[in-house]
Amino acid sequence: MTTSRDNLAQTAVTLTRHILEEQAVHPEATGEFSTIMAQIALAAKLIARNLSQAGLIDVLGLTGETNVQGEAVQKLDRKSNEAFVRAFEYYGGLVRTLVSEEMDQPFQVSSLPPGKRGKYALFLDPLDGSSNVDVNATVGSIFSVHKVGEQAGRDANTDLLKIGSEQVAAGYILYGPSTILVYTDGGGVHQFTLDPEIGEFVLSVRHVRMPSKGKVYSVNEGNYGKWSKGMQRFVDYLREKDPAGGRPYSSRYSGCLVADVHRLLTTGGVYLYPAEAGKSEGKLRLMYEAAPLAFIVEQAGGSASTGTEPISKLQPTTVHQRVPLIIGSREDVSSAEQFIQGRR
Ligand code: AHG
Ligand code: MN
Ligand code: MN
Repeated sequence: MTTSRDNLAQTAVTLTRHILEEQAVHPEATGEFSTIMAQIALAAKLIARNLSQAGLIDVLGLTGETNVQGEAVQKLDRKSNEAFVRAFEYYGGLVRTLVSEEMDQPFQVSSLPPGKRGKYALFLDPLDGSSNVDVNATVGSIFSVHKVGEQAGRDANTDLLKIGSEQVAAGYILYGPSTILVYTDGGGVHQFTLDPEIGEFVLSVRHVRMPSKGKVYSVNEGNYGKWSKGMQRFVDYLREKDPAGGRPYSSRYSGCLVADVHRLLTTGGVYLYPAEAGKSEGKLRLMYEAAPLAFIVEQAGGSASTGTEPISKLQPTTVHQRVPLIIGSREDVSSAEQFIQGRR
């Protein structure tokens, strides 16, 4: 006897089916993108499995090493990075270079001879918010896909310093109560939920749109004393009572950028990791945190800024560079810019 659950699984729009259907509408598409997404989905499933076993097998805690950012490496940071490397190692014909928060140098996928290697580079934050793992809280992965030339990745920066608006695709995976994958290839934002019983990502929201203004702000308020006066005044403003203007906003901060941005994508609002005294570049990484999330949010009707210029227009100077990030609903990001620039 088939149950309604079986019927649902049989009629579900899986990630692969969705991408193939989108390709049918765009005859210029080569089909390469569906394979890249399939391999990203595979890495995501491996990471979700590792996370679900954290505490049962020896994956918690630190490796004792520090990464290229000078931050302590969690065992799960390393395992998550390996999941992506493995997923693409045998697909050198698509992705020629992987740039990851967890690898100092770009990783050259070398399973094919030089003339036959792929024309894409993949930029990764394999595990975002990784210190949350120790307290069983939400974490994520972020990816960004760029088209690159023959020389890409020959050394640390060659042909990899692409501006955000050139991204071919970007997305994130959120490992929460369920595992969800959100991506854009410039044709809107689509959300999928992992059905662990059939091992497939199933379409849960087509064409995600975010509100133009929200009621939530996400920021590490412990850093208040390190912010510029404009940034401090913006957060003071959000906390003021003004029922007609929808203030005060509520504060939500998870310590995982993916989780906080996903909340904003759903309900609206603004996330801020601004410049600080003595740290003008902020904390977050341009090429595998800020730029991919900016692409997603812009495609859903929101925006992303450094406080003075759009994230998607920034010319990177190194693949691991950091950048201040204000991201979320269009009107909220615009208000933040006005305060930060001293126009309010
Ligand atoms: P990662 O785990 O990849 O290093 O990223 C952590 C990031 C981001 O996810 C989060 O929003 C932010 O760092 C939290 O930083 P603070 O602890 O300084 O608030
Ligand atoms: Mn991160
Ligand atoms: Mn990370």
